Amino acid sequence: MSDSTDAPATPAHDPQALAGLAAEIAQQAATRILELRAQGVAVAASKSSAVDIVTAADQESERFIVAAIQAARPDDGILGEEGTGITGTSGITWVIDPIDGTVNYLYDLPAYAVSIAATVTDAAAFADGRRAIAGAVCNPRTDELFVAWQGGGATRNGEPITITGQEDLAVSLVATGFGYTVERRIEQAAMVSRLLPKARDIRRIGSAAYDLCLLAAGRLDAYFERGLQPWDYAAGVLIAREAGARLLGRDDATPPGEPFLVAGAPNLVAELRDVVLGGE
Ligand code: IPD
Ligand code: CA
Ligand code: CA
Repeated sequence: MSDSTDAPATPAHDPQALAGLAAEIAQQAATRILELRAQGVAVAASKSSAVDIVTAADQESERFIVAAIQAARPDDGILGEEGTGITGTSGITWVIDPIDGTVNYLYDLPAYAVSIAATVTDAAAFADGRRAIAGAVCNPRTDELFVAWQGGGATRNGEPITITGQEDLAVSLVATGFGYTVERRIEQAAMVSRLLPKARDIRRIGSAAYDLCLLAAGRLDAYFERGLQPWDYAAGVLIAREAGARLLGRDDATPPGEPFLVAGAPNLVAELRDVVLGGE
């Protein structure tokens, strides 16, 4: 599926080649975090709140990914969750989450992933001002590699994937996630309480990037969250969109992103948004 505002595919901006690089680096980083997990894991620091943690593996994974991107594409920018902020000159900025689902990683629950996206800035950008043209998400615990580039469809371990297409909210399985601050969680609890009586069920899997890939692969019907950061969604939204999902923001004037993001079948997302945000 192709966006109407696709950036021209110059050699430096060839989405398929960028997706290949994202996939290769994501797989290598994912293998590394699995090795580190086997050696044990400890909380290295906390961020926005005591429950918002970072492990040494998050930091090492980010260092590895940044070095690999810089070796392959020294003119690109890089934005990483664990502090990387490199301004590039090529027009491509990589947006990376070295471990998405760090709490699952801490507890050895098999839902965490490395997320890597190559983004551009244009009129079709998300709320953070960027939009992925290529991306990869790798979950080393399930041995899954999801890859997409704009106009190229989405794959799971090399096989094409599509969303379920479910349009009836009453029989939809809807995933969401929660932030780390008390104020944000109070709002999120209200969203869930509005939705729960109206959907098949909800899931809180613990990795936004992986949630979006599960949606893309037809293992969830929809996903929404408020408060996501660019690294949480950059690759996943492209994979979901290329698998047939529609993305909406908080209202029709606001692009999807931190204020709110909902993804699912084109004829489901507006109703889901109304239910979740109803009364705000
Ligand atoms: C978190 C996960 C979680 C989502 C949070 C994110 P992290 O990322 O994606 O599913 O609900 O909003 O912050 O901290 O594990 O990288
Ligand atoms: Ca994350
Ligand atoms: Ca993370």
